[in-house]
This record gives sequence, structure tokens and C-alpha cells, in this order.
Amino acid sequence: MDWRGVILFTVLGLYSGLGFASTEPKETAALLALKKTLGDGSNFLANWLGDDPCGGQWTGVYCIETDYPSSLVGSNVSHITEVRLLQLNLNGFLADELGDLVAIKVFNVMWNQLTGSIPNSIGNLKNLRLLLLSGNQLTGVLPPELGTLPSLHRLQIDQNRISGRIPETFLDRNLPMIHHLHMNNNSLNGSIPPSLGSLTNVAHLLLDNNELTGTLPVELANAPNLMIIQLDNNRFDSDATIPQEYGQIPTLLKLSLRNCNLRGTIPDFSGAPQLGFLDLSHNFLTGPIPNTTLSQNLSSIDLSFNQVSGRISSNIGNISSLQYLVLRDNNLSGAVPGNLGSGSMLSEGNSISLVDLQNNAFVDFANGSKLVSLQGQGKTKVWLSGNPFCTGSNSAENNPLCVPSDAGVLLDVGNLNEVFAFDQGSCTPCPAPYMLAPSSAAPNKCRCAAPITVKTRLKSYSFGVFDPYKQQFISYIADGLHLRVDQVAIRDLEYEPGPRLAMSLLLFPTGFSFNASETRRLYQAWSRWEIPLDKLFGPYEFISFAVTNEPPKSESGGLSRGAVAGIVIGVLAFVVLKTACMIVVFRRWMRWKQRKWDSRSAASKKSVTRRRSHSSIQVTSVRSFTFEEMAKATDYFSSAKLVGEGGYGKVYAGILDDGQKVAIKRAEGASYQGAHEFENEILLLSRVHHKNLVSLVGYCNDGTEQMLVYEFIAYGSLQYHLSAHAKVPLNFVTRLQIALGSARGIHYLHTEANPPIYHRDVKTSNILLDEKFQAKVADFGLSKLAPEAGFEGLGGYISTVVKGTPGYLDPEYFKTHRLTDKSDVYSFGVVLLVLLTGMQPISDGKNLVREVNVSHLAGKMASIVDFRIKDSYPAAVLESLAKLALSCCQDSPAERPSIGEVLRELELLYKETYSDATSDVSDSESVGYSGELKKLRNISESESFIEINPSVSSSAMSFGLCSSSDPDLRSTPMVDMVPR
Ligand SMILES: *[C@@H]1O[C@H](CO)[C@@H](O)[C@H](O)[C@H]1NC(C)=O
Ligand SMILES: *[C@@H]1O[C@H](CO)[C@@H](O)[C@H](O)[C@H]1NC(C)=O
Ligand SMILES: *[C@@H]1O[C@H](CO)[C@@H](O)[C@H](O)[C@H]1NC(C)=O
Repeated sequence: MDWRGVILFTVLGLYSGLGFASTEPKETAALLALKKTLGDGSNFLANWLGDDPCGGQWTGVYCIETDYPSSLVGSNVSHITEVRLLQLNLNGFLADELGDLVAIKVFNVMWNQLTGSIPNSIGNLKNLRLLLLSGNQLTGVLPPELGTLPSLHRLQIDQNRISGRIPETFLDRNLPMIHHLHMNNNSLNGSIPPSLGSLTNVAHLLLDNNELTGTLPVELANAPNLMIIQLDNNRFDSDATIPQEYGQIPTLLKLSLRNCNLRGTIPDFSGAPQLGFLDLSHNFLTGPIPNTTLSQNLSSIDLSFNQVSGRISSNIGNISSLQYLVLRDNNLSGAVPGNLGSGSMLSEGNSISLVDLQNNAFVDFANGSKLVSLQGQGKTKVWLSGNPFCTGSNSAENNPLCVPSDAGVLLDVGNLNEVFAFDQGSCTPCPAPYMLAPSSAAPNKCRCAAPITVKTRLKSYSFGVFDPYKQQFISYIADGLHLRVDQVAIRDLEYEPGPRLAMSLLLFPTGFSFNASETRRLYQAWSRWEIPLDKLFGPYEFISFAVTNEPPKSESGGLSRGAVAGIVIGVLAFVVLKTACMIVVFRRWMRWKQRKWDSRSAASKKSVTRRRSHSSIQVTSVRSFTFEEMAKATDYFSSAKLVGEGGYGKVYAGILDDGQKVAIKRAEGASYQGAHEFENEILLLSRVHHKNLVSLVGYCNDGTEQMLVYEFIAYGSLQYHLSAHAKVPLNFVTRLQIALGSARGIHYLHTEANPPIYHRDVKTSNILLDEKFQAKVADFGLSKLAPEAGFEGLGGYISTVVKGTPGYLDPEYFKTHRLTDKSDVYSFGVVLLVLLTGMQPISDGKNLVREVNVSHLAGKMASIVDFRIKDSYPAAVLESLAKLALSCCQDSPAERPSIGEVLRELELLYKETYSDATSDVSDSESVGYSGELKKLRNISESESFIEINPSVSSSAMSFGLCSSSDPDLRSTPMVDMVPR
């Protein structure tokens, strides 16, 4: 089969034109309706186009079959099971059609600026497990339908502006699976419905920072799994008290009722043996602190700003976990118990703890010697000011315990930014984005690795002070994520009001970086709260998840039904693309193609490729490098080795272990492709061998990294040698030889490569010169597809964005987007003109093709010839060469010669002019040039020889749109946390 003229995007266009959509149409329509109502200023949803979200890999849309509800298992269409639109700068509102996503399990739009209310249609989502709406500006009331979601496990509407009452429908028979009700920081009013106490599974009830009134329902104590009651900052009615029953909830870990306008007495907590955190501060509580056994897990007790009286129970003194005891501004009296401070966290911890007893009526501290010594050691702060004790000889001047302090609730707990608990001071810092991994063992002490950075916040913890629990926390996270403890580090700890504890968790790979499936696994564990609950650390918030390099999208729809059939059909017609992202289809096509190759190769027994497993194609004719080898070759991608930069990423000069010099192209951000696409591309390139083409030495496809390794071409680009910086100008014959060599390389791509490769970006910076000034065409075969967002509006279409460089770009291709071999011919014509004139294709707004045409017509060609070759060109050649170049640059592709014809013409010209030259003219040693060569060789090798025009997007591996389909797994530039 002749593949000439086959354009991949044509295939794709045709394919999508045939409309083998495999996503349930109603769900597709629901997403499109959502897209319409969501304001998407940053265009993250630009690829929500067409009719096949599952097949088209729409941003943040997942169709995971294992998540299908049983009623849909085996259905003949795909269903949307997860929508992840975390922190995408979305505004607008949620369309009613949300309710049509009947298979959805996780709906995550946290940390956007959504307005409007939660649609009532939410009640249709019987499969919904996680409803994550935190951190928006949602208003309106909670729809009663929210209470009819039989699968709902986690409801997070915190940090919105939702008002109205908590629906009476929140009953166990309606919400049998609910574990987490996070509704804090809204404007909810009315009273807490007693029915919440019926919820069998509810563990966390966060209703703090609302406008709730009424009284605290006794019934809450009936919830058999309730662990956290957090109701701070509500204005309950003036007859509201703390039900004594709250002290008898066996599962209770945390009771936080700060500033709730509560009266009455403090319950007896003897029935809450697991209680770890008790905050009843800023109320109007009276009576004594009950003299009963208290949980030994209590690490924080805050009863400040009440009217509690009596003595401090000695039971408080010996609580072993106690870190934080704040009883200030009450009417407590008597002596401070002598056993206070005997608990191990206060006396043995290395952290600073707090005992704040200010503004009470304590008269005696005689037995408080333990506290005095702790205070003396600087470990525990003890504040007694404002008590009768602090008078006379114990006044502030005489007794440090009596110095007034207003440090408030949030404590200074030492160096919160300390990342690692061990000394890595002797290690050389790692080059960004690598960081020193927290491994203290000798051989690995200074290991550099690229961590995943997870920003999180503990939103309802039960400790007093974090510091002593740091290591325990790291173990907890490591266990939960199935990592080793030396793969986890904490950074940027910060207390926030609440109190909450914000931090960044750095998750380090055991090698240089996590591979795609590990990244997916970690993301899933984190985003679905698969880490088991911890009593001390409480629920965590998910704020962001930043991967150093963009990994491929996680499993979604996969191949839709009917896809393969769709691909086989007609291939040659050009169809304007109008559906979804093309990469999936491209992958399908490549797989199909791959099978063809495989069978062909098997037959010929000369296979360079074979399929080792279903998931990885091994390309054996080129070397596969590990990331470590690449890092070593480039001094860890040191900037000194940087020789170029383009839309796809950076190019480094490197030296392999065996001493071979190479140029390494490292894909970045949007250029990152799925492993399959990438290896297929390698496969294609590995089959291309010609002396006028830069050859591929190998590649690296290591987890989140993709690199192409090319032979290093010593003299760099033709562009450089034609520029004013060139130390030695190229003479005419060399230019002619370069033209010949380049034409041969392109001719090979068009006629010998199978399938044919259209370069799409022939230009002087993509023609490299070796030590013999032999031309080597670079950067071919990498940009043949490269669809990009070029659509507008909702009904939109996708146009393949025209790739190429202004000035070299075929105007016809630009107009019609129809790519043919003649587009390369046009660009090559421009290269010829640049060789002749030494001018830029476009300069000062002048187009070189037009300028030469004008001069040519006026018979004044000689006037625009590069002055540097004025003395070396044979006059007779000039006219022929100019004619040839201009014929390549004709507007109509049909009138341009093929590259084969151009090549023949050039060979003829060369032979006629240099009749004594050998037929293989590209072997330029025959041309006397050695003196200049020597001079050139003195140019330092570190000089930038491979010049890549950074302003041009045409270069390698830019499958932009499709590769960034998972917004949560996006690359670091969008998240300011990971140093670059
Ligand atoms: C899927 O099955 C339904 C009936 O079960 C049928 O109406 C529909 O046409 C089928 N769709 C496809 C794409 O085969
Ligand atoms: C919740 O509201 C309180 C009171 O307005 C505020 O101090 C706190 O910062 C808010 N918390 C969050 C996480 O927004
Ligand atoms: C509290 O209990 C202790 C011992 O259990 C007892 O000695 C003390 O008198 C009690 N105090 C009050 C006020 O009941």
C-alpha cells in the first residue's frame, strides 16, 4: 500500500467524521451542558468536544469500567464514572444536566470559583460516592435530594456560601453509606436535625463556622460510629447546653464546640475513652471540671474563656498524652495540682507544650514543682499570670511563671519548615526539579529524586502540638500509600485558624521519578481517601497534587467499541476534524499499524521490533536508556549542557557511557505522550536511516520522563553558519552541497520511509552540519500529528494547527491545512533562497520569496546574492538555482516540482558547474576547505551549535492538547510548589 499522501490527521478526521461514539449520549450531553455553564477562563475544558468523552479523553473525565454500577455492567456504551476538575479556575455554575451522569462515582470540582446552587438533579446520582465541592462560592440551599444518595460516602461542601437548613432528609435509610459530612464554613442556619444521630456510618460531622441555631441534639450521641463533632463558631440558642450524653460516645475522638454560645456544665467524659481533643472554649459554661477518669489519649484540652469553677481535677494532671492545657479566664481556684506535668508528652517530649492557667483564682503553686522545672528547661510554657498566686514575691518581675502572655491558641512550635529529620547538609544540592530524598543510609544519603508534591491540610486533628507526632505522621502516610517511610517528607507546615494544619507532603520515588502507574496509584489513593482514618490526625483535605513531569492520563475509557472497525475504513479523503481529541484515535491507528508491522517483521525474520508484553513495545534497533543514564550523560541536565529549547522541551548535549556524543531532547509538560504513542514514534524513527538524516541513537521512556537521543552533529545548524555570527562564511560550492544533501534527506523521507514522512518544518535551523559540512536533516517525523486547540465556541471543530515556521511555511498548507509532500518542497525552496541570499525568510516585514521573485523578474538577481559568496558563485548557476528555488515556492502545490525532481535538478546543476566533481557530491572532502575547517574546529564545543528556534512550536513531540488531559496530574509550572 502506498502511504504517500496519507496524512494521519486525515485518517483521524475521517474516523471521527464517521462518528463511532461509544459514550452514552445522554452523559455526553450532560458534560457539554456542564461545559456551557462552567466558566472556563483558562480553557482547561477546550477539548470537551465531540460525542465521545470516554474515547476522546476529555480533560478530567474518566470512564473506569470497574466502577460501573451493577446495572450498567456489560452495557454496550461507555459511562462516565469520575469527573476531576480540581482547581481549574472555573467559575459559572453547575448545570441541571449534572443529574444525567448516572454512573458517576466521584465528582470533584474543589477549589474553583463556582457560584449558583447545587442542582436538585443531584438526587439522580445513585452511584455517587464522593461529592467534592469544597472551596467554591456556591450559594442557595442544600437540596433535599442530597439526602437520597444511597452510595454517598463523603459529602464535602465546606468553604462555600450555602445557606438554609440541613435537610431533614439526612436520615440513615436515605444516606446509609455516609461517613463524612464536611459542611463547615458556610452559612447554614436552623438547628442541627436530630436525624443526623441516626446515620449509622457517619464518622465526621464538621459544621463549624456556620450560622446554626437551636440546641445541640442529644440524638447525635446515638450515631454509633461518630468520631468527630466539630461545631465551632455557631450561635446556638441561649438555652443550648452540651448534652451529658456527648460524654458517653465510645467512639468519640474529638469534641470541638468553641464559641457556640453554650451554657450549662461540662459533661462527664468518662464514657469517651478515646477522646483526644476537647475544645469547649469561649462559651458560658459553669460548674466544675468533672472529677472522673479522663481519656489518656487527650492531648489537647481547651476550656478557656468560660466560667468554670472549682479545682483542677488531679485526673488531668496525669493524662499521659497531654500537650496542651488551656484553662485561662475561668474561675478556677485552689492549688495547681502537683501531678500536673507528669504526663509523658509534657515532661518527656522535645517539643514545647503549653499550660495556660492565666486569669483564674489559683492561690497556690506549692506542689507545682514539676511544671516549674519543665518551664525552666524551656520545653513547656506555663502561664499563671492573673492569679492571686502571682502577687507579692511571685510578681512578674520575680517569677517567670507570672509574666502575662497573649500568645493565643496557635503556638509557636519551633521550626515548622524543617523538612528532614537528619543531616543532609553535606550533600550537594540537587538540580531542579530533583530534591534530596530523605534517606539517611550511607550509600543513598545524597540521593536526588523528583518528588510528587501533595498539598494538604489536616482539617480536624486531635493533637495539641504536631511536632512530636511528625515521625508518626510520616509513617502513617507512608503506610497508607504503601511507600517506605524514607519516601515521605513534610514541608511548609503552617497552622491555620480552625485550627488546621496545612503542609506539603513530598513523596519520593525509589528511583529518579515515579512511573506513570505509580503516579496514578498514588493519586487515586490520595484523591479517594483510601488512606485509612487516623484517630490523631483526623481527616485531611486534598488541595493539589503536583507531579514533576506530566505522566500519562490514568486508565479511562480505553478503546471504545467499534474503534478498530472505524479505522480500517477509507483513508485518503481530507475531512475537517470535528470531534474530540485525536490522540486516542491516533493510538488506535498506531496499534493497528503496529500489528501490521509486527506481522510483516515476523515474516521477514529481520524484525527490529517486537512486542514484549501488551503494555510495552520494545524497540530494539535503538537503545533504551534509563533516566539515570540520561541524567549522568548531561550532568543532571545541567544548564551548561543546554543547547536548545523548543515547544517540546529542552535539548541537551550529552556524553554516553561509551563516550558517544549525543543530543538529548527531553519532553516537557504538554509534549509528554502516552508510553504507547511515544514508543510507536520511536519505532517509526528507528526505521529511518540515511546519511543526510540525523539518526536516532536511542530513547528514554522512564516513568514520567520521555527523551529522544540523537547523534550529536558537531557543527550545528545551517542557520548558524549563514548568520552573522558564523566565524567562517560558507562558500558557494559548500552551500550547493548542503542543498543537495538536504534534498537527499528529504527525498528519502518522502519516498523511502514507510510510511512516508513529511517533515513539516524544513528550515535552516533543522539542517545540521557535520565535520565535513555534510547536511543532516533533523527533527523529522516528530510533528506529523500535533493537533492543538484551534477551535472556538461550543459547536466548535478542531483544526490541526498548522505547524511550521513563518517564512518557510507553505501558504497553501496554511490556508487549507492540507499537508502534502509539496509543503516540504516549498520550505526547501525557501532554504535554497536563504542559501543564495543569506537573508532571513522574513525580515522587516519583507517576505524573501516575494523579494527574490521581484528581483528575478527584473533581471536583478545578482543584486540580492549573499555578498559573502559574490566571488565564489559561477554566474551561470545563479539563474538556474533561483529558478529552481522559485518554482518550489509557487503558490499552487501542483505546480511545484516533487523533491525528486528538485534533487535531479540540483545534481545536474552541480555536475555541470563542477564537472570534475565525483558523482557523490555530498562527500565534500574533495572540496578544498581544510584551512577553514581547522579554524572551525577551534570553536569550543560548548558553544551552542544546535540551534533550535524557541519561538517555533513546530518541533518535536508536541501532542499538546491530548497529553494534558488530567488536570490533577499536571506538570509543575502550574503549581508553584516544586522548584523548577
Ligand atoms: C446498545 O444497546 C441498545 C439496546 O440495548 C441499543 O438500542 C443500542 O442501539 C445499542 N447501541 C450500540 C452503539 O450498539
Ligand atoms: C472558616 O471560617 C472562619 C471564621 O470565619 C475563618 O476564620 C476560617 O479561616 C475559615 N476556614 C476556612 C478553612 O476557610
Ligand atoms: C476527686 O477524686 C479524687 C480521687 O478520686 C478525690 O480524692 C477527690 O476528693 C475528688 N474531688 C472531688 C472534688 O470530688
